[in-house]
Amino acid sequence: MTRVFSGIQPTGEIHLGNYLGAIVNYVALGRALGPDAIYCIVDYHALTNPVAYDRELLAERTFEAALINMAAGLDPHSVILFAQSSVPETTELCWILTAQTPLGDLQRMTQFKDKASKLESVPAGLLMYPVLMAADILLYKADTVPVGEDQAQHLELTREIARRFNQTYGETFPEPQLYLNPQAPRVVGIDGKSKMSKSQGNTLGILEDPASVWEKIRQLPDDPARIRRSDPGDPERSVVFKFLSYFLPPETLTPLKEEYRKAGIGTLLLKELLFQEYLRFTEPIRERAAWLRAHPEEVWEALEAGAQRARKIARSTMDEVRDKVGFARLPQHARR
Ligand code: TYM
Repeated sequence: MTRVFSGIQPTGEIHLGNYLGAIVNYVALGRALGPDAIYCIVDYHALTNPVAYDRELLAERTFEAALINMAAGLDPHSVILFAQSSVPETTELCWILTAQTPLGDLQRMTQFKDKASKLESVPAGLLMYPVLMAADILLYKADTVPVGEDQAQHLELTREIARRFNQTYGETFPEPQLYLNPQAPRVVGIDGKSKMSKSQGNTLGILEDPASVWEKIRQLPDDPARIRRSDPGDPERSVVFKFLSYFLPPETLTPLKEEYRKAGIGTLLLKELLFQEYLRFTEPIRERAAWLRAHPEEVWEALEAGAQRARKIARSTMDEVRDKVGFARLPQHARR
């Protein structure tokens, strides 16, 4: 592993799925690799969703996403943290890769099919979404990509895109590897059914107001077979236990599961425990977020410095790519 890249959408709220599936690894890999850990707030990607069509909100959400990543422990003086739109080379590479990518490969992406099936008019950007993602990763020649399992198919396509470019123009890009958090590759939503996701409205926000978090935890579905308090339960079917497993070590969790199987413990008590653990876990992030909110210049300066550092790498890759593709090298261009 020599260089890590990942991206996160500025969709307004960072939830437990984003945090456990991706951000935990951003922080760990950032500590190990410093400036070779590159993290991007993907505001170009966000434009494929009409909620981003708001001039004020887009910038505010980019700020918010950067702030939460910093509050979660990313040190922007060490890693590179930047907004995607501050590196326009991304869209240039995206076009070059688009030119070679089979339409059928894009049409069979499950996220595309899912999102497109809910829309009356499908923006072409939604289809192109994974090529833009490939451009992100390849522009920095990253070999490791920490993401949740939902991005695995996009990453496989990135590998194919890299391979195709290398075959056509000569060895240029490494084929990046997926890097999952084995404890939480796919965090389930509070409905206990689908993946936790903003669009499903089933999230627990990392900075969500505690009263609202408790309201959601209180309503988490229990083992459906457990109707009365005196009925034994199966912890494997309980969403409450699933969430508890993210916060408690096995030596604390195992005796609780045994009690649950014998109907020796009530669900409300487990939910109160989960709420406490959630607060304990998110407390330091909330504190740092509050401090950063009072010092917004820290976040803007981080994004500014990150943009400069990212762009330097991006320019150097694009010089190589343009040369390999064979664009005319006019003197004006060369002096860009
Ligand atoms: P986004 O913004 O939807 O999600 C950010 C990260 O959170 C992970 N994630 C989850 N992990 C586990 N369980 C969940 N319920 C869950 N929900 C979200 C996602 O897998 C992701 O890692 N396409 C990307 C953004 C992107 C990107 C990139 C990622 C753009 N360019 C280049 C990596 C490399 C996305 O929409 O993430």
